[in-house]
Amino acid sequence: MAYKIGIVGAGGVAAIHAAILANDVRVKLQSYFDVDAARSQALATRFGGHAAGSLGQLLQESDAVLVCTPNTTHEEVATQILDAGKHVFCEKPFALNLDSATRLRDKVMRSGLLYQVGHNRRFAPVYKVLKEAIEKNELRPLSVHAKMNRGELVNPPWVWNAQLTGGFLYETPVHMFDLMTFFFGKVEWVQVAARAHDHGELDDFSILLRFASGLQATMKTYAHASWHFPFERFEVYGMHSTYETFEMESISFTNGLESKTTTYDFSLTGMPEQWGYIEEDRLFVDALEGKSRVPVTAEDGYQVVQLIEACYRSAKDGSRVHVNALVGKT
Ligand SMILES: NC(=O)c1ccc[n+]([C@@H]2O[C@H](COP(=O)([O-])OP(=O)(O)OC[C@H]3O[C@@H](n4cnc5c(N)ncnc54)[C@H](O)[C@@H]3O)[C@@H](O)[C@H]2O)c1
Repeated sequence: MAYKIGIVGAGGVAAIHAAILANDVRVKLQSYFDVDAARSQALATRFGGHAAGSLGQLLQESDAVLVCTPNTTHEEVATQILDAGKHVFCEKPFALNLDSATRLRDKVMRSGLLYQVGHNRRFAPVYKVLKEAIEKNELRPLSVHAKMNRGELVNPPWVWNAQLTGGFLYETPVHMFDLMTFFFGKVEWVQVAARAHDHGELDDFSILLRFASGLQATMKTYAHASWHFPFERFEVYGMHSTYETFEMESISFTNGLESKTTTYDFSLTGMPEQWGYIEEDRLFVDALEGKSRVPVTAEDGYQVVQLIEACYRSAKDGSRVHVNALVGKT
């Protein structure tokens, strides 16, 4: 019997997930709810299922629900779904501050329900190559530099507004923080210099991260420099080895002093696979079936929020902030 899936929020990313899930025979796209009814109807017409008149109706008729609403609504919408006893896949970010992240994480733990956070980049082929090299000990990371260029805080017109985004780091850079912990483990402390160039929003960060393993990493992330390629890149330096990603399109590595450089190029792979969406959705359905655990948990989402909050805290005066010292109210 197919799992009945509901989707809340029927905008851009909802259409990506709906297109993927429509091809999964284990799933029935049951219903969509958006505060703009025309949008839910548009998805129903494209991918099957119907537009629900309310969130309550959607909850009644779904086994699991995808949350694809704006950042500020994630905790509230996810809480209603958990209260209805339904499994959740929620887009990133997990939450927009530590109190919210703590409440939500604790609620998920008490509920016993599945909760997957939409950190899709873990499943992008370039990042899977990097992760596998680390897991197989082919690469022993000693030092790292990463960058994420958001291009501008102009479009969409509210993107500069921290009241709506949670702050620039909760926008696209949130993915880099997730990847940092996914690849390299727990972060012990961060030290940050940051400036505002547009609308008074901090949009230029130089971040030093010290991991529990002793690894040190630097990250530049900024949103004032135009969409100059590459937007995102990891450079991971081992002992006589270097791995370097270019967007989610390719990864090159040199392993050993005499080694040639190998490149895996995924630039012709379609975006839903190249960006990891197809695998993240497949794994969510696997988890519904009980085949495997959700691959990105509420605890993972919480740790990303904790890390971002530590960066904002450090940005105030440049002090070193120990990540685990930050705790939220329940
Ligand atoms: N993982 C990724 O790569 C990725 C990519 C894009 C967006 N996102 C995340 O997905 C979420 C949605 O982004 P988007 O680009 O699809 O935005 P969008 O503006 O295209 O769509 C959001 C939709 O939610 C609806 N909505 C707003 N409040 C609602 C509510 N309370 N109940 C029901 N519907 C509501 C809006 O009417 C709109 O149709 C954001 O949190 C964003 O950060 C993630």
